[in-house]
Amino acid sequence: MRIAVAGGTGVVGHCVTEELEAAGHEAVVLTRSAGVDLLTGASLAAALEGVDVIIDAASPDDHGEAAATRFHVTSTRHLHAAGAAAGVKRVLVLSIVGIERAPTGYYAAKLEHERAALAGPLPAMVLRATQFHEYVAQVIGWNAKDGRARIPNCRVQTVAARTVAQRLIDAAADPAAWRERALDVAGPVAADLLDLAEQVVKRFGWDVELSGFCPGTPPGGRLPGPDAWLGGPLFEQWLAGAEAERMKVLL
Ligand SMILES: NC(=O)c1ccc[n+]([C@@H]2O[C@H](COP(=O)([O-])OP(=O)(O)OC[C@H]3O[C@@H](n4cnc5c(N)ncnc54)[C@H](OP(=O)(O)O)[C@@H]3O)[C@@H](O)[C@H]2O)c1
Repeated sequence: MRIAVAGGTGVVGHCVTEELEAAGHEAVVLTRSAGVDLLTGASLAAALEGVDVIIDAASPDDHGEAAATRFHVTSTRHLHAAGAAAGVKRVLVLSIVGIERAPTGYYAAKLEHERAALAGPLPAMVLRATQFHEYVAQVIGWNAKDGRARIPNCRVQTVAARTVAQRLIDAAADPAAWRERALDVAGPVAADLLDLAEQVVKRFGWDVELSGFCPGTPPGGRLPGPDAWLGGPLFEQWLAGAEAERMKVLL
């Protein structure tokens, strides 16, 4: 199949692109670095020619609620409009477990993202994942200032971005599995985000002091429900492997 990956160079997007090619599919990357701007729609029509399915794994530069809502809703509308004109069959959207439990900030933007995607005109499916193993390094990078980083003090059940990518590809390639919500995807075990962050700092030798703060999400609000699909590797296995190295540049 010819599958377009919005955000196909990002943390999860590059895994989707690589795994698509490994599985014998043709991947079309929709990113600014590949000449496509999802916000303006520039070059999107040409890029979607002959595409069967779009996987939307794009993410904004600014995660503030207003900017992120604008990014996700506008991008989604462009993907649907250009996709419908090009004969794309369906759109698969990556979202986040638990966003309805704390619908403010970036989570509010993701709820709007889901609504815009499901509004069509193309058939759409939402696959929600928990925070990636990679997110632990991302959150340190986003919050680091003057040698310190404040980390949300919460339980997470992180999953490898590559595992999420494989689930996205399986879902995208199987029209029989299509419905509004795919099974949520999560990692194997729950942990304290601050503990995981300490492990990342040690592994990368980062010169940053961590402290926790009380997040807006309710206790357990980021954890998967009992029906979620759980997949390895464990965080510690991922952190010891080559995959984690990509995140070292974030600080
Ligand atoms: N991170 C997590 O733990 C996590 C967990 C669950 C779900 N998610 C969801 O997964 C998705 C991807 O997250 P991520 O952390 O992998 O993202 P990321 O690493 O920040 O990557 C963002 C991607 O979006 C592209 N992009 C940004 N602005 C663009 C624009 N105007 N036009 C075209 N492409 C643009 C970037 O490429 P260019 O810069 O080249 O344009 C890049 O490929 C998001 O929807 C997020 O909500 C993330």
